[in-house]
Amino acid sequence: VEKGLNTACITKVFPTRSHTVAAQGGVAASLANITEDSWQWHMYDTVKGSDWLGDQDAIEYMCRHAVPSVLELEKMGVPFSRNENGTIYQRPFGGHTQNHGKSMAYRACAAADRTGHAILHTLYQQCLKHKAHFFVEYFAIDLLMDENGTCHGVLCWNLEEGTLHCFRAHQTILATGGYGRAYFTCTGAHTCTGDGSGMALRAGLALQDMEFVQFHPTGIYGVGPLITEGARGEGGILVNAKGERFMPNYAPTAKDLASRDVVSRAMTMEIQAGRGVGPEKDHIYLHLDHLDPHLIATRLPGISETAKIFANVDVTKEPIPVVPTVHYNMGGIPTNYHAEVLRPTKDNPDAVCPGLMAIGEGACVSVHGANRLGCNSLLDIIVFGRAAALRAASLIKTSNSLPSASFNQEEIIDRFDRMRHAKGSFKPAELRVKMQKIMQKYCSVFRTEDILKEGIQKLTDVYHEFSDIALQDTSLIWNENLLGQALATISSAHARRESRGAHAREDYPERDDKNWMHHSLAWLRENKTMDLSYRPVHYYTLNKETEIIPPQKRIY
Ligand code: FUM
Repeated sequence: VEKGLNTACITKVFPTRSHTVAAQGGVAASLANITEDSWQWHMYDTVKGSDWLGDQDAIEYMCRHAVPSVLELEKMGVPFSRNENGTIYQRPFGGHTQNHGKSMAYRACAAADRTGHAILHTLYQQCLKHKAHFFVEYFAIDLLMDENGTCHGVLCWNLEEGTLHCFRAHQTILATGGYGRAYFTCTGAHTCTGDGSGMALRAGLALQDMEFVQFHPTGIYGVGPLITEGARGEGGILVNAKGERFMPNYAPTAKDLASRDVVSRAMTMEIQAGRGVGPEKDHIYLHLDHLDPHLIATRLPGISETAKIFANVDVTKEPIPVVPTVHYNMGGIPTNYHAEVLRPTKDNPDAVCPGLMAIGEGACVSVHGANRLGCNSLLDIIVFGRAAALRAASLIKTSNSLPSASFNQEEIIDRFDRMRHAKGSFKPAELRVKMQKIMQKYCSVFRTEDILKEGIQKLTDVYHEFSDIALQDTSLIWNENLLGQALATISSAHARRESRGAHAREDYPERDDKNWMHHSLAWLRENKTMDLSYRPVHYYTLNKETEIIPPQKRIY
């Protein structure tokens, strides 16, 4: 809108309830307000965190643009916490280091532990100021695609009035988030159903690197809400049933602030070795009770409240029961660093799908590769949200009217109607729980060939049952979005015979750069199976003078 484009934001929830509101610990940028820092160190950490599956050109773009993007947010009015000298407060976060792992960097720019809330509200206000059009509680059903594969907009359902609407656009940007709700327990809201990626799959586009699902080390045991990694950044520690702080055994330098996949695996191994806490020895304690209560009140007010509500714990006196919990999808709709969606072909793995862009957790740029570092997600959305806006402004001639085109709206409405009037045998809500339990059990922190194979069979059966649903609550159409992504996840996980980042195969415990340093692509076939293929990782940087970071063993 700032560039004079006529811009609509179509959203199924009120804009300030979008899940970004739940992001806690911070946004990464090498401002160097507390410790020495540089975008090159940030880039090194991100490539290492990604276990060398991230595209180095895109990672360079993100880390270079982090500082100006955060400062732009500050100027827009984001209420960051402050240091005594007035600069933005920064805290340490998992995997963010100084000088290639020598010591921890203070890189997470934080607004207490409510950073996403602060950013989302400020950007919403900016959008109102610049007169963006909001279509609230409009649910996007499918992409309007022509026969050449160009996107012309979306077909939406106005949930309040029950009417259908075609939104035509020069550029459609999917900013629809992750699909954590494909799992039984996750830190994401019930709204995290990956709607944009579901639409992309139905439009015949591929999803990329879906096997990489991040488990956050500290979801509250039994219920899932997030306890920010910032709690460990402020000095919190993980302790097992023997009262031992065990992380130094797994990550001697970074300890409790190692990368998330490393901490989640260490916790799971402690539990598997019988050192979990609680009557069933199936979780771990996070201690903050040794910290200054004033620090907790000022830097961690949000999680203090969450721990009280969901675990009945006073964090100044008792430990919080936590367990690794599904938190983030590294995979998604493949894009380049301009946020343009890719439709890879044999001849051109970087071919673009005209008219369509994607950003955020629903996209796979890929800057996170096999494992995302904490605070690089808020960074990803602001840097590539900005990149998408810049690209749209350069591609769209405001004087041009929309091209005349025939697209697939009748097909979409037919599908929608078939769902609404479905009178089959299965209840969508029951199928959803079946899917969630299959994903939780068969596609978890540690994976094996046999477990994944069994999971694929069970999930495919559920997908077929979905063709025979009885619909009472039409809103449950969301389930189909999750099913496609769940199947892409478990199928890609089954195919990848190595361990990398968040994908830990017990039967293939080593990373295998010779055979597997490439992105997975997954297309949904009509018969509810997946077609898999691969595209090369961008093992080159954006600028000639930026050094490529060669693969190394990942030790924290
Ligand atoms: O732990 C957290 O505050 C989460 C941050 C993130 O996922 O980036």
